[in-house]
Amino acid sequence: MADFKGDIAALIAEHVEGLSREEIRGMIEIPQNKEMGDYAFPCFRLAKTYRKAPQMIAADIAEAIRGAGMFAKVEQVNAYVNMFMSREQVIRPALEAALDAEHFGFSDEGNGKTIVIDFSSPNIAKPFHIGHIRTTVIGYSIYKIYDSLGYNVVRTNHLGDYGTQFGKMICAYRHWGNDEDVQRDPIRTLLSYYTKFHVEAEKDPELNEEARKTFYDLEHGGEDEIRLWKWFSDLSLREFNRVYDMMGIEFDAYDGESMYSDMMPRHIEDLKQKGLLKESQGAMVVNLDQFDLPPALIQKSDGTSLYCTRDIATAVYRKEHYDFYKNIYVVASQQTLYFRQLFKVLELMGYEWAKDCVHVPFGMVALEEGTLSTRKGRVVFLEDVLNKAVEKTKEIILEKNPDAPKDRIDEVAKEVGIGAVMFNELSNSRIKDYVFKWDQVLNFDGETGPYVQYTHARCCSVLRKAGEETLKAASDPASLDLSYLTSDSAYDLVRLIEAYPAVVKEAAQKYEPSIVTRHIIDVAQAYNKFYHDEHILVDDEAEKNAKVALTLAAKNTLKNGLALLAVKAPERM
Ligand code: ARG
Repeated sequence: MADFKGDIAALIAEHVEGLSREEIRGMIEIPQNKEMGDYAFPCFRLAKTYRKAPQMIAADIAEAIRGAGMFAKVEQVNAYVNMFMSREQVIRPALEAALDAEHFGFSDEGNGKTIVIDFSSPNIAKPFHIGHIRTTVIGYSIYKIYDSLGYNVVRTNHLGDYGTQFGKMICAYRHWGNDEDVQRDPIRTLLSYYTKFHVEAEKDPELNEEARKTFYDLEHGGEDEIRLWKWFSDLSLREFNRVYDMMGIEFDAYDGESMYSDMMPRHIEDLKQKGLLKESQGAMVVNLDQFDLPPALIQKSDGTSLYCTRDIATAVYRKEHYDFYKNIYVVASQQTLYFRQLFKVLELMGYEWAKDCVHVPFGMVALEEGTLSTRKGRVVFLEDVLNKAVEKTKEIILEKNPDAPKDRIDEVAKEVGIGAVMFNELSNSRIKDYVFKWDQVLNFDGETGPYVQYTHARCCSVLRKAGEETLKAASDPASLDLSYLTSDSAYDLVRLIEAYPAVVKEAAQKYEPSIVTRHIIDVAQAYNKFYHDEHILVDDEAEKNAKVALTLAAKNTLKNGLALLAVKAPERM
């Protein structure tokens, strides 16, 4: 792939002092306004070195590089050097790259380095509700993005299968449980017990004590407690897997919190040895005052372990087991403070790799009806949302196109409906809270998954109509007459396609899939503009070949981009 920025930086470096080639590269801008050229170099920073007005420096640089044969035009405007490429010069390498679908946007820069990513990680015996969608979908997309850049990514589901809530659940089951109900509809039934527990415990605080004792027994080998806990876990996992299947999401490991319970004594001992553990009101804590953080709770007064203790054991296990380059946690922003404590404790324990642990936070999802609460039993199951999306999508497709191919409609409705929900999750910068609104998720003309999928299907339709022969000619960039792609609408599309690989890298660096999402929405919009402004399948062979090649390049970009979001790209809709 051509690297114009790199070439320009090298050229400018020959003519300025005091800035490295890399620094120059970082300063080169791609102006929003095309009048300002394809690339622009601001000269403010050079004023000090040269003791001259930046305008004058810009004029000197413009003069110096004008003759290099790289540009169609070079202008000085105020403190900027504006550089215009010839359009064909930009189009050729962009098409060459994008026509190679298998490699476009992929790279091997990760060099097989291992990244562990902890995402989804729901709590067992609790509903898998709409609130879980964010970590699940964002986490999976980050996996896809890193995987596409040549990293070896280990997807781990840190199931919340341990802790005092299991004491409550077992207690509730013993008081009000019915096996048949549990078998028939495990999560809803267990949820109803859990809700009942909280209602009853308000009247009778003794229940809380009983639950605490039950968890103590579970952690100390109580046979019946372990049997019930395992049973609840298996039932829950079966339900979770059904939802993961619907979304096409897979894990490499389901190492829940319970797996680390045996490993904890070693770390508690270690904390003691290192003089980090202090007693506080009967509990054991690591004091973090000095770092402006609340103390990290390691062990309760009754000797039961805590979330944080299990996470210490988990992080060490991951380092010893995978020797990660990065250890990523995709967890809601409510836990930001908690992760700062956890990473600080790991650092104090002397683990230099604590710096490689990354918390990737995200904001909350609310429903138009109001907030969610597991305790109060006010939940919306993710599975119900996905099913509803499929149903609504089918209605929309039939409405738009009563002749939609019957044999495929259910499958397409699934790909589009579920894709729409996932795409929607990845559309806004992750840290923002947002409200889930059906008409936003499924709007085929908005900035949605269905819109991008629809545009991809439109490209496929153009390619089908173009026929084998044309397609073959279009796939060979060397033979194309690119002068047919220099109109504004074609060229705008080319520029967006060209930018795609860099967009993927930026998304990885910022752990922000929405950067890819926004970009493929732009590509889709640009393609549609091109499609409406111009005739693609014209009689003139050379013109047709060039335009079909651009269609193919757009299709590849949309398809590869959607894949990074784990959204399907059906060829017909
Ligand atoms: N189960 C936790 C929750 O639902 C999330 C776990 C995240 N991972 C971790 N290693 N702490 O809040």
